[in-house]
Amino acid sequence: MKIAVIGTGYVGLVSGTCFAEMGNHVSCIDISKTKIESLNQGTLTLYEPGLESIYSRNRNQGRLTFTNDLAQGIDAASVIFLALPTPQGADGEADLTAVLSVAEQLGSLIKSYKLIVNKSTVPVGTAQKVSNVLAKNLDSSLFEVVSNPEFLREGAAVQDFLKPERIVIGLSSEQAKSIMKELYEPFVRQGNPILFMDEISAELTKYAANAYLATKITFMNEIANISELVGANVDSIRKALGADSRIGKRFLFPGVGFGGSCFPKDVRALKHTAETVNYDFKVLNAVIDINEKQRLKVYDKLNTHFDGNLKNKRIGLWGLSFKPNTDDIREAPSLYTIDALLSAGANIIVYDPQSINNIKAIYGEKLDYGKDPYEALNQIDALAIMTEWSVFRTPEYSKMKSLMKSHIVVDGRTVLDPENMRKLGFIYYSIGRP
Ligand SMILES: NC(=O)c1ccc[n+]([C@@H]2O[C@H](COP(=O)([O-])OP(=O)(O)OC[C@H]3O[C@@H](n4cnc5c(N)ncnc54)[C@H](O)[C@@H]3O)[C@@H](O)[C@H]2O)c1
Repeated sequence: MKIAVIGTGYVGLVSGTCFAEMGNHVSCIDISKTKIESLNQGTLTLYEPGLESIYSRNRNQGRLTFTNDLAQGIDAASVIFLALPTPQGADGEADLTAVLSVAEQLGSLIKSYKLIVNKSTVPVGTAQKVSNVLAKNLDSSLFEVVSNPEFLREGAAVQDFLKPERIVIGLSSEQAKSIMKELYEPFVRQGNPILFMDEISAELTKYAANAYLATKITFMNEIANISELVGANVDSIRKALGADSRIGKRFLFPGVGFGGSCFPKDVRALKHTAETVNYDFKVLNAVIDINEKQRLKVYDKLNTHFDGNLKNKRIGLWGLSFKPNTDDIREAPSLYTIDALLSAGANIIVYDPQSINNIKAIYGEKLDYGKDPYEALNQIDALAIMTEWSVFRTPEYSKMKSLMKSHIVVDGRTVLDPENMRKLGFIYYSIGRP
């Protein structure tokens, strides 16, 4: 098939590349000149494991192209994906400016039948809104709008896209159904379901999934917090809970709270949707409040250790991205920790395997940057672990001790072993573990 993907960020670039990998011809369109220039020169604009090789292969074989020109990009396509940003707007509402402005432009550009597929995370009723905007300039026989929320996880996005656990598609015509089936069947040869439903249910499914996962994380953070107060060990509790198949092992690790470009904004957007229909979604309110406190847990522990005096203390941070295997720092707990430490007068040196450039773009000279984990330990008063990259799991402890001024470690991701750390002579603070 000939496909256009509008928006070449984490979702658009991965989707476009993976559709090309299945033999489709894909034109990726973006408003950013620097992104398209870079992608046309063969340089990826984001880090995602496994993306480089399929991007190069499909680009070299001519199935994957990049353009800033919307008219040219959609010309040959029969299916147009919208993978546009839907950031948090006023009152927590999802901001649909990009989606609706592109729909407006498409309305004047489309000349033959095209299926418009919304891959962005959008509130209920958006498929209808996009339809209404298109219909201002376009005959209704020339388009249909389908809702196809994306469930890929950053850090495992290629694998998730190529072998999705399920595909959710909201639509209302047989023609749209047969196009979507043809497009997606190669991705579910093992039998994972393509779930067809109405557009509103598809839109709500995405928010339900993210809100549920955010709630699961938050619940474990609460168990960790109460474990600290009663002297329990959250590690033991986590393993016992995870062994219960009704609960499952995943998303049970406590830590410094959830971040990223999706969970925080999607939880707020769902709360906003509930408010518009006068529904008080109490669980979501609690999740938002608890997470705001949790993402400052590492800062709080440092502050308590230094008796409220962090001025001129040199703090090392290991990990900046909101989770491992991505360079994405949007809403990362590390940002809140850095801001709080800077306000308290601390000096900070940071290290992250992938996201240093993104952090530099925000903080510039305000921080020092380590080229490897150990450079970020030089003469520090304390180390804070903010992201569970594998490289931090088995560090060279003797090297750590020789470089750090004081041997204080606050582990915001429970990656190190408390007993071992104590034996090695560190003052070690964890989350939910004595
Ligand atoms: N990142 C994820 O893990 C993830 C997962 C599932 C769903 N989503 C959802 O997918 C959507 C996109 O997320 P993302 O993380 O890929 O965002 P992103 O910010 O990485 O990418 C969006 C891209 O759209 C481009 N863009 C903005 N306005 C444009 C316009 N008018 N015309 C053309 N291009 C334009 C931007 O330059 C950018 O490259 C959001 O709704 C998000 O909630 C994201």
